[in-house]
Amino acid sequence: MKISVVGCGKVGSAVAYTALLKGLTDDIVLVDASCDKARGEALDILQCRAFAPQAKVRQGEMPDTAGSDIVIITAGIPRKADEPRVLLLSRNAALIGDIARKAVQYSPNCILFMITNPLDVMTQLAFKVSGLPRERVIGMGTVLDTSRYRSCLARDFGADARDIDAYVIGEHGETMVPVTTGINVRGIPLEQWPGFCPETLERTVKEVIAASGQVIALKGGTVFAPAASACAVLEALVRDSNAVLPVCTFQEDLGVCVSLPTIVNRAGAKQVLSLPISADEASRFAKSVDNIRTYVNDLAEYL
Ligand code: LAC
Repeated sequence: MKISVVGCGKVGSAVAYTALLKGLTDDIVLVDASCDKARGEALDILQCRAFAPQAKVRQGEMPDTAGSDIVIITAGIPRKADEPRVLLLSRNAALIGDIARKAVQYSPNCILFMITNPLDVMTQLAFKVSGLPRERVIGMGTVLDTSRYRSCLARDFGADARDIDAYVIGEHGETMVPVTTGINVRGIPLEQWPGFCPETLERTVKEVIAASGQVIALKGGTVFAPAASACAVLEALVRDSNAVLPVCTFQEDLGVCVSLPTIVNRAGAKQVLSLPISADEASRFAKSVDNIRTYVNDLAEYL
């Protein structure tokens, strides 16, 4: 399985490193505007092979990505703590459009996996310029926010985060919707979980929406949660697992890319699922879609 990572900043290099440690690939190409940066990351990752699954890891340019099964795009300007992700649109759109076109030129059968922000809009840009079928252009979307949600719920209610069934849907941004309808812990409704408290849940929902900004304010950027979340998607693609993940893909009926629970396997984002949500959550999801649509309209000059 050949994976190329375009953009070897903190997130891109952490994704490559995590994918190697998890044995998700035997061939990684690292591409970056700075060849030295990509070469340094490749060397650093290579030097852990005595204690990791074996894989080829090297710096390359876009032609070297040829034949990739998955091209991960993390290049671009990251956001600052108090900056909404959508402010990055004009800074990143031209770059991402160019990378997506080249990725597909060299690997026409690849899956494009988007991580660059503003995530939903960049995924839509990649979908439009690549000409790939919708299931093969996937944004990490609210998989990351869902990881944060489950982690915070586990902390607040004394459960194992891996046992918690809860989703964040919508925009990977300020209008995301942490769904409270149907949260359960291995089938036990959260409301019946020992120590459940609705006020705590309300606080957790607010915390998840602000979680990224909190980390960025403290350490300058988010790295490990994005890398782990990205590798959860990679694992479903590589292992053909049919995992259900809230990835961001183009929704024909909505006309935008947005995150919803989806069956993910080797063919990509195969089937979007209908999550039972409340009327209020449906209304907030619709507002989230509208917010994405506002910014998608700004893409015209980049298509
Ligand atoms: C975050 C960035 C990756 O949510 O958007 O951490």
